[in-house]
Amino acid sequence: MHPEGRGTFFSISLLAPVLCDFVFLNSADYPDLRKHNNCMASALTPAIYAKLRDKITPNNWTLDQCIQTGVDNPGHPFIKTVGMVAGDEESYEVFAEIFDPVIKDRHNGYDPRTMKHPTDLDASKIHSGVFDDHYVLSSRVRTGRSIRGLSLPPACSRSERREVERVTVQALAGLKGDLSGRYYSLTEMTEEEQQRLIDDHFLFDKPVSPLLTCAFMARDWPDARGIWHNNDKTFLIWINEEDHTRVISMEKGGNMKRVFERFCRGLKQVEHLIQERGWEFMWNERLGYILTCPSNLGTGLRAGVHVRLPKLSKDPRFGKILENLRLQKRGTGGVDTAAVGDTFDISNLDRLGRSEVELVQLVIDGVNYLIECEKRLEKGQDIKIPAPIQQSRK
Ligand SMILES: *[C@@H]1O[C@H](CO)[C@@H](O)[C@H](O)[C@H]1NC(C)=O
Repeated sequence: MHPEGRGTFFSISLLAPVLCDFVFLNSADYPDLRKHNNCMASALTPAIYAKLRDKITPNNWTLDQCIQTGVDNPGHPFIKTVGMVAGDEESYEVFAEIFDPVIKDRHNGYDPRTMKHPTDLDASKIHSGVFDDHYVLSSRVRTGRSIRGLSLPPACSRSERREVERVTVQALAGLKGDLSGRYYSLTEMTEEEQQRLIDDHFLFDKPVSPLLTCAFMARDWPDARGIWHNNDKTFLIWINEEDHTRVISMEKGGNMKRVFERFCRGLKQVEHLIQERGWEFMWNERLGYILTCPSNLGTGLRAGVHVRLPKLSKDPRFGKILENLRLQKRGTGGVDTAAVGDTFDISNLDRLGRSEVELVQLVIDGVNYLIECEKRLEKGQDIKIPAPIQQSRK
């Protein structure tokens, strides 16, 4: 059935009968995915598995290591997870036959074979980006960046992880003015520093979710992990969590334009400082910025607000409105527990195929629409479900 597997079986068992008691066909290693609901399980076939099982990337990363998290976590009947991670930049090429359909499924039909991903970090193009503070409590933009030549968190060795930390922290020391700040290593911070970072909601926790631990991302915790932030606490970089770096710009209130302006400026300066030291970010024109989880390819961007929508959130049309605006909602789960029922974290659904500017503008227009609906409902007026926004095809 699988010529590759059969070839392996005969050649190894004939040549090395003493070394191997028994060599299985590739198909005998095929994972049982019958109860699974994730993009990997939908896309993987015995033929793809047989073809890719024995391939390795230059860092010796394998297909089985890419998909282990999706095998171990069948997912939820209503929540389709991605089900695989990359171990290095080359994973997306070496295992393209499985990554490409997963990317297409997760990114609303984006075809990495034929499409090109646009990058645009010109914040001056953004308009109407200041929300009413009565509704919007905070604004935030985040992305991730990976350092080319070093394995990603599922695969990296201790030395590679420490190199990511060294390269990034040295570069960040070059930030000036409102962006200047300092680094807090998880292994070296004092009790007081730790408590302060927890109080500021800056600290990230040891990964305990099986989605992450089954992707080998908690190894050696907390070695070479840490948090850098500027003195104003509005520009933040996580090091060696789920990605080499996560870059976050945020502030209280509704000035998304200013948050995005700082995000673009900071990100460009960090990239410049890293390049000055002979490193660069993983990027290509088909996939955009390369990150650990295929769901974050492209811009890696999540632009979101915490917005109070007590009336709209109880309206049965809320879900459809969000879907048509290509927005997603999450709970806020913050300390402000009294307001949690009415307050939502609203952000862009897409990451790949649209530029940073397009995605942030889409969030701004969408959130303005939601606030408009909330105001109409307050006055007892009716609201409309907007026409669905089409995914752009580049
Ligand atoms: C990959 O594995 C081979 C064989 O075990 C080894 O010689 C090589 O050094 C490994 N490469 C890396 C980058 O670890």
